[in-house]
Amino acid sequence: MSERQAHIRRARHWIANRGWRGFFDELLWRTRLTLKGQAIPGRPGPEVGPHPFDLAYNVDTTGLVWGESLLTTAGSHDPAKYWATGYYGVAPSSFQDALKRLALDWSQYTFIDIGCGKGRALLLALRHPFQAAIGVELSPELAAVAEANLHSFNAPWRISSVPTRVLTGDATNFEFPQGPLVLYLYHPFAAPVMRRFLDHLGRSLRENPRTVYVLYTNPELMKILDTTPFLTKLWDAHFAMSKEDVAADRFSSTFERMTAYRTESVR
Ligand SMILES: C[S@@+](CC[C@H](N)C(=O)[O-])C[C@H]1O[C@@H](n2cnc3c(N)ncnc32)[C@H](O)[C@@H]1O
Repeated sequence: MSERQAHIRRARHWIANRGWRGFFDELLWRTRLTLKGQAIPGRPGPEVGPHPFDLAYNVDTTGLVWGESLLTTAGSHDPAKYWATGYYGVAPSSFQDALKRLALDWSQYTFIDIGCGKGRALLLALRHPFQAAIGVELSPELAAVAEANLHSFNAPWRISSVPTRVLTGDATNFEFPQGPLVLYLYHPFAAPVMRRFLDHLGRSLRENPRTVYVLYTNPELMKILDTTPFLTKLWDAHFAMSKEDVAADRFSSTFERMTAYRTESVR
């Protein structure tokens, strides 16, 4: 994809997610900062080597893969690929704190990472005795890395009895398992696919009503989830990153924002 096509694609993501008004606000803000000679926040710094999580537990979850590169490596003109945001692993400390805040009886739930990338959140979930853990990933290359990580992952706290697998494919076609679920999303796709995903989840819940928790990191599309009739918002919180996560973060973030939802009545 040429640089021009990549710019157009990024602009279409903004418009799809925030509407024309949000798009022009973003453009204006960026122009002002550029004119003042200030850096635009959100631009990533250079890679700072493997994340300490990878070094400690013999895995590869580090790195940033932009959506446009996913598009080329994953091939085809599938709309799911067009609207994918890219890969970046969640800060382990924030993710653990968010799960702690959910405080569920894990053994009743299947954990599903919607857009698991290289599998960092999936691996972190194995600290808890979930009934099962599943990663769904659109990019075959990233799914293969996640699969390899499942084999090499040697954290002493890993609960090895949790059946775990990685599936390659579009999450909007994924057949949700029976029983209560914890769905985890780290802003994996833009609004058109998010709407399709929520319709798909709604259909599954109408056929088989059950408790589902949704944990959403970097909740860019929070308004869509907030207005989804079968979801009730539980909280919207900022989880501070540990010092080592801050040092490893390419975006100079110090926290992860996450929102949590639970299913109520399904109509
Ligand atoms: C920001 S990464 C999140 C990685 C991981 N969940 C974590 O928290 O460490 C988002 C991932 O979603 C994947 N993705 C995007 N669209 C998808 C789709 N329609 N179905 C499945 N995965 C998708 C991307 O390829 C990317 O790996």
